[in-house]
Amino acid sequence: MNRRDVLRVIGAASLVEAIPGLLGAARRHASPFFEPDVELALTAGPGEAQVLPGARTRVWRFTGAVLKGPAESLQIIADSYLGPVIRLRRGQKVRIRFRNNLPESSIVHWHGLDVPSAMDGHPHSLIDPGTEFVYEFEVINRAGTYWYHPHPHERTGPQVYRGLAGLLLISDDEEAALALPRASEELLCVLQDRHFDGDNQLLYMGNGMMDGMMGFLGDRILVNGKERPTLSLATRAYRLRILNGSNARIYKLAWDDGTPLTVVGGDGGLLERPVEQRYLALAPAQRADVIVDLSKRAVGSTLQLVSAPYPAAEVSMTEMGMGGMMGGAAVPNGAPLQLLTIRVERNETSTFRLPARLSTFDANWTRSAPGATRKIAISARQMMWLLGGRTFEMMETAPDEEAPVGSTQVWEFVNGPGMIGMQMAHPIHMHGKQFRVLERSSASTPVVAGSLREGLLDAGWQDTVLVMPGESVKVQVHFSNFPGLYLYHCHILEHEDMGMMRNFRVLPA
Ligand code: C2O
Ligand code: CU
Ligand code: CU
Repeated sequence: MNRRDVLRVIGAASLVEAIPGLLGAARRHASPFFEPDVELALTAGPGEAQVLPGARTRVWRFTGAVLKGPAESLQIIADSYLGPVIRLRRGQKVRIRFRNNLPESSIVHWHGLDVPSAMDGHPHSLIDPGTEFVYEFEVINRAGTYWYHPHPHERTGPQVYRGLAGLLLISDDEEAALALPRASEELLCVLQDRHFDGDNQLLYMGNGMMDGMMGFLGDRILVNGKERPTLSLATRAYRLRILNGSNARIYKLAWDDGTPLTVVGGDGGLLERPVEQRYLALAPAQRADVIVDLSKRAVGSTLQLVSAPYPAAEVSMTEMGMGGMMGGAAVPNGAPLQLLTIRVERNETSTFRLPARLSTFDANWTRSAPGATRKIAISARQMMWLLGGRTFEMMETAPDEEAPVGSTQVWEFVNGPGMIGMQMAHPIHMHGKQFRVLERSSASTPVVAGSLREGLLDAGWQDTVLVMPGESVKVQVHFSNFPGLYLYHCHILEHEDMGMMRNFRVLPA
């Protein structure tokens, strides 16, 4: 570490954390001690997009520009409301100048990235309309599919819903050494559901409290901001990077012809080996990296990515006790959906071979001794969802929400028992850390054919885990690197906004 690095670490870790005034000052100006490899401008503001045929849709969106570094650091998704794809390499130092041109406060969070607390986009860092927040961090995550979205308390749901989200893709040497399809052979697939009025304008939370409790479900499924797009491809292998960017919808991904999905990665990058599954459950905020090999397919043939049906009652209370009282969504969770069509259009000779081993992702990981497990109950009280019996407080942590830097802990998310008919599946997300799922309490119960559980995959590093009703899930998390305040929460954005979110604090050594 040279002197500059020392100053930077001290600045980021202790002073910034300790003195709020200085924190404010540091965030709004670039640090003279930080020399970025990549510098980006990212602006959130109103705009419009052609989503459906006919009238254009008024949206909020991210736009960006590369101020320094490789031009490929930003990739525009043509004709979409989605923000530019940010492409970074592990080891790069990145500065992002975020400008808020929205009519309300906001802040950006880098979902899945391990960054200093002050750079994480915690809602206490909100900035006003017309102002700027300067992020500076080094990319230390593994190669993988991450994303970014706003994180203002009580307003994350509506801001993401209006269009504020984008992919953040990280590459590294380990991944580059594999013969995976290159960036030009990547298919990016952001899944979101929306609801429109007759004039193609977005509608949100029409059912108020019920949409809050259940999570908001739209009746049209968009892929990169379009309905059921068709991709014309060649007889070769592609890498399909899927993000569930929906506020509340859970997909049970499958190919329509029964071909198993070849999964090579999840939230936190590549799996150790490819996994073949007929179905893959993808909860809000989760990502999947899937290889689709078209080399043996005939020109003219098609293949469809769908969400296979599963019973709504498996994940939500619509069909359960509260259901009758609250009504249901037009297209409930579990409804069969067509997402994306692939048309094989031209012949190419492909020599693609899927590597048998993808990654040494377990290199520094050992299962921690059983014992000190922190139990976090998932419950509901007075039309509010709670974590550990508590609701969100901006700066608060309880003693069981603190962990010394460098420690490893097992956290168990306990969904139920609770009132019958008052349970839902909740995708629980931890900021800054990738964890491993150790155990699902339901593992020994047989998987019912046609259920969402057919698609659960806990093989990789994850930052979001779906906890089914009545189930407990144990995850092992290592509190490495950065001390400070971080969030964990349900990634059903309406639940998060209503306070199903808590802080955890990583204590300095
Ligand atoms: Cu996508 Cu607080 O997270
Ligand atoms: Cu996050
Ligand atoms: Cu939830």
